[in-house]
Amino acid sequence: MDKLVIEGGVTLKGEVTISGAKNSALPIMAATILTDDACIIKGVPVLRDTNTMVKILRSLGKCVEFENGVVTVTSGKSLNHVADYKLVSTMRASFCVLGPLLGKLKKAKVSLPGGCIIGVRPVDLHLKGIKALGATIDIEGGYVVAKADKLKGNHIYLGGVYGSSVLATDNVMMAAVLAHGKTVIESAACEPEVADLAEFLIKMGAKITGHGTPIIEIEGVAHLHGCTHTVIPDRIEAGTMMLASLITHGDISIKNVAIHHLGALIDKLQEAGAALVKSDHAIRVRRKTRLKAVNLTTLPYPGFPTDMQAQMMSLMSITPGISVVTEKIYPDRFMHVAELNRMGANIQREGPHAIVSGIKELSGAPVMASDLRASACLVLAGLAAKGETAISRIYHLERG
Ligand code: UD1
Repeated sequence: MDKLVIEGGVTLKGEVTISGAKNSALPIMAATILTDDACIIKGVPVLRDTNTMVKILRSLGKCVEFENGVVTVTSGKSLNHVADYKLVSTMRASFCVLGPLLGKLKKAKVSLPGGCIIGVRPVDLHLKGIKALGATIDIEGGYVVAKADKLKGNHIYLGGVYGSSVLATDNVMMAAVLAHGKTVIESAACEPEVADLAEFLIKMGAKITGHGTPIIEIEGVAHLHGCTHTVIPDRIEAGTMMLASLITHGDISIKNVAIHHLGALIDKLQEAGAALVKSDHAIRVRRKTRLKAVNLTTLPYPGFPTDMQAQMMSLMSITPGISVVTEKIYPDRFMHVAELNRMGANIQREGPHAIVSGIKELSGAPVMASDLRASACLVLAGLAAKGETAISRIYHLERG
């Protein structure tokens, strides 16, 4: 698809079911490298990113089937240790094959992913953790070349300038499960997707405790086996649907939601005056009264997710009052500000802050998507705007 054309002003009503989490599915698919047995992963969302991971696993020699949201991975003839630039450069999360390749083969050559529109996105924490397990790391021709005679457990502090790192925690955890002895990851990422990967590894026979907290302990084992796992629901997709309901003055019941993963967003929306009715795995979202502007700061989990910042800014752009949005994970993640302003929004960027002065109504315009979540933000803005919004570079949206 080339572009998305939205005629705004329609109230969204009805029921929607959320898919499995992309950010759980990707590292879990990578973790299948750690065993020669068959692994079955259910609830995998059908997206360009998950299809890219299928291609990467195949390029490494795995046999992969992906049908109706079920990924089945079995062993091919042999496992290749090189993850190619062409594939890794299209999706940053591909870098999480480094840990499992090193764990399984004691060698890995994985292309550096490079930066992206939301910031520089270094991999120093990934490399620090892998080195601490006893591997040597060289950078050769844009590739990370990691080798070890054997991996040895260690005590690793993995905090960085912006706090913990999701994929670095994933990578180190996947390398450590087959290492000799005990590994302690301190300042580990607590995101539910990291905990879901740990649950998958435990089903494979890994010994992990503390996942979902900042201290993860891993006792290395000699061998991992196959297993079946269903990935957790996607909290960012659920959050985006919640905002779709509010921004269109709608009434949406959202099913397959892990409500306890959405604490920070639910808190903000309640502060803004939204009416939320929660049941076991579902949430109904609508307006009770006029919404009011709220401030928000993105933080590592359980803080407000950076992956919801852009979408929340769409809602705030037409909510009366001033909202200060502070980005503490990716200080440059504000590409959507200029696009929202093209639609009439009044948003001023001041370093890692955006000051949003709510206006009455957005007006449809041609806009450009810059990254996945910024695309979702523009879709929400287009749904609420008067007239037609045409979003180009929509391939970002298709990624996730
Ligand atoms: C993951 C998510 C992404 C989300 C992000 C933050 C996946 C596939 N992607 O990305 O959707 O926006 O978490 O919640 O799960 N950093 C370093 N050094 C490193 C690694 C990261 O300084 O080695 C910095 C980053 O630049 C950023 C912060 O740490 O400022 C957090 O990034 P990180 O958690 O690593 O993001 P990803 O795991 O790449």
